[in-house]
Amino acid sequence: MIVSPTPENVDRAAGMLRDGELVSFPTETVYGLGADARNPDAVRRVFAAKRRPAEHPVIVHIADASVLPRWARSIPAGAKALAAAFWPGPLTLILPRASDVNDTVTGGGDSVGLRVPGHPVAQALLQRFFALGGDGVAAPSANRFGRISATTAQHVAEDFGEEIALILDGGACSHGIESTIVAFTDHEPAVLRLGAVPVENIAAVLGSAPRLPGAGAARAPGTHASHYAPHTPARLMASSEILRAVGRLGGPGAHIAVLAHSVAQPPTFEGAWFDAPAHNAAYAQELYANLRALDALAADEIWIETPPDGPEWSAVRDRLRRATHRG
Ligand code: TXA
Ligand code: MG
Repeated sequence: MIVSPTPENVDRAAGMLRDGELVSFPTETVYGLGADARNPDAVRRVFAAKRRPAEHPVIVHIADASVLPRWARSIPAGAKALAAAFWPGPLTLILPRASDVNDTVTGGGDSVGLRVPGHPVAQALLQRFFALGGDGVAAPSANRFGRISATTAQHVAEDFGEEIALILDGGACSHGIESTIVAFTDHEPAVLRLGAVPVENIAAVLGSAPRLPGAGAARAPGTHASHYAPHTPARLMASSEILRAVGRLGGPGAHIAVLAHSVAQPPTFEGAWFDAPAHNAAYAQELYANLRALDALAADEIWIETPPDGPEWSAVRDRLRRATHRG
């Protein structure tokens, strides 16, 4: 059930978390599907609801950085600096786990992912849950495994229906793509997932460039080549390629849906044409909603105009590469 985040409903949600139930809540990146991170049965229910393999670790959401020592056995100086600079916010830190962190959260590994979200509803929920004695909320993105993340309460309801007893409605997420993940489990910091905090900003705080995804072995478990994928076959195409292909369609025939951001719809095109924002932040904010809406059209194919090359587009390019990956 979708409810507005009134103080009463936030209280109710915190009580449900304490009782081992699942609650979906908004963050500034995407919606999360939360469970008490100290309750292995509750965390297992999240995996079951998502149809996600059990060995994947899940991010623990905490109210503020002061509780980090309850979860991490060491906090390198670089991690402290990033937490100070970007929390509350769309950054996840991977740190060496404390000994009592349960394996459902870590996937059995030696590290734990932690994030202090900035969304006021997520903050209110965490504060309330902590007041009830909670330590952290384990929450992956609130979508079925491998599918498009949810950036509205309605998206969550579409994926899970009545399986999730409570969805706190915080409106559309302001960033629209997931947190940037930085791991401090090796001799040097490594970005495991590009996301809402630009890598340049992380490098500026660290004083040097972190390792990037794909460099060496750095990869978050569960960052598959295919992810965030619509059911409809989707591909990336340069604007010129889209125009040529539209020219070849000639009248009714293939049912095509296009996600463009710079090229205008040709007058002869009869399919669905979405004009995404030309600015990277606005584009990212609407990306998953656009992919979901395009997918719902049940077209034969989705053609996505290749995003620009600049570093500010790197997280969007990453998501679109995975969304259009075949095989
Ligand atoms: O923005 C976000 O990060 C959202 C919101 C809800 O906070 N959460 C999110 O969770 O994207 P999820 O589960 O969809 O993606 C988290 C990624 C997964 O690829 C997981 O494998 C990785 O983080 N991860 C979590 N804990 C980890 C750990 N200890 N070591 C390495 N990777 C980890
Ligand atoms: Mg996810």
